[in-house]
Amino acid sequence: MQTRTLGTTGPAVSALGLGAMGMSDAYGPTDRAESVATVHAALEAGVTLIDTGDFYAMGHNELLLAEALRGRDRDSYVLSVKFGALRGPGHEFNGQDSRPEAVKNFLAYSLTRLGTDHIDIYRPARLDPDVPIEETVGAIKEMVDAGYVRHIGLSEVDAATIRRAHAVHPVADLQIEYSLISRAVEADVLPTLRELGIGLTAYGVLSRGLISGHWSTDRAAPGDSRGFVPRFSPGNVEHNLALVEALRRVAEDKGCTVAQLVIAWVAAQGQDIVPLVGARTRERLTEALPALDVDLTADDLAEIEKAVPRGSARGDRYPAAFMAGLGVGN
Ligand SMILES: NC(=O)c1ccc[n+]([C@@H]2O[C@H](COP(=O)([O-])OP(=O)(O)OC[C@H]3O[C@@H](n4cnc5c(N)ncnc54)[C@H](OP(=O)(O)O)[C@@H]3O)[C@@H](O)[C@H]2O)c1
Repeated sequence: MQTRTLGTTGPAVSALGLGAMGMSDAYGPTDRAESVATVHAALEAGVTLIDTGDFYAMGHNELLLAEALRGRDRDSYVLSVKFGALRGPGHEFNGQDSRPEAVKNFLAYSLTRLGTDHIDIYRPARLDPDVPIEETVGAIKEMVDAGYVRHIGLSEVDAATIRRAHAVHPVADLQIEYSLISRAVEADVLPTLRELGIGLTAYGVLSRGLISGHWSTDRAAPGDSRGFVPRFSPGNVEHNLALVEALRRVAEDKGCTVAQLVIAWVAAQGQDIVPLVGARTRERLTEALPALDVDLTADDLAEIEKAVPRGSARGDRYPAAFMAGLGVGN
């Protein structure tokens, strides 16, 4: 397994990370035994970066990871945990709480659920519009000083917020959506990260499955949040899947799958970028891992750009109510 280092202060991690959200939340029915087996398969393949959030099915995802990671050497994997998104009993989202006292409260619960004495990278899931980022990062810094947290990360914030946070304590990485069809980070965010020596962990690399080569118009089942994502909605999804078919032709020429091609594209955007994939089964993981061996030449990158020009996807990457909480657009 290749490794990459998250920024100038962050940990070295596998060049591909595993995002565990879909094992508990967001994408419809899940299979606990298969989820645990997928985490084990990832670790055995050399994946060391595992991402979760305390709000992924309200603690379910952390408890699942605790089970999957039980008995493993704590130094053999890097746990990235997002906090602060508020949920209700109907699973709805009710904003973000990043007040210093909330940071410590969320952390205490996460440590308990995960069954660990520290979190490797701790990050607010979104910017709390009511709390200056300096206060939130200041509270995490206290937790770093106390030994409960190793590194500070951010998620879905703009360049100005990155600068303000980094001035309080070095930021290891920003987690943000980045894929062939979500390239807003390229304008200001990525140059700012590079100037400050901060890594990027990319999520939505497969655009939640839309550009994986496995999506079809009839796949969103009840309970699947993709039913509310504009890119998946009727009228947009057909257009977006036509882009995938153009990619499929490039992938076939390259001798890889569409999913491997789009993961390889993100990995090729810089050594400072670590793609996360939301594999929920060993089958999907087995497809994703060889993406790191797909070597994209300048000609390949030009072909991919021709198949999916920047900005060619239709529909926002989140429902309208969630777009306002993001640091960048599509
Ligand atoms: N910071 C943030 O705001 C934020 C937001 C969302 C997610 N995340 C993190 O990012 C992680 C990745 O989630 P994502 O939503 O970005 O997922 P993604 O990797 O873009 O898409 C995952 C979806 O694609 C499908 N898929 C098809 N082929 C695949 C393959 N070969 N490998 C992996 N998945 C494949 C998956 O499996 P099926 O076909 O089996 O459904 C799943 O439904 C999450 O688990 C979470 O940790 C962070």
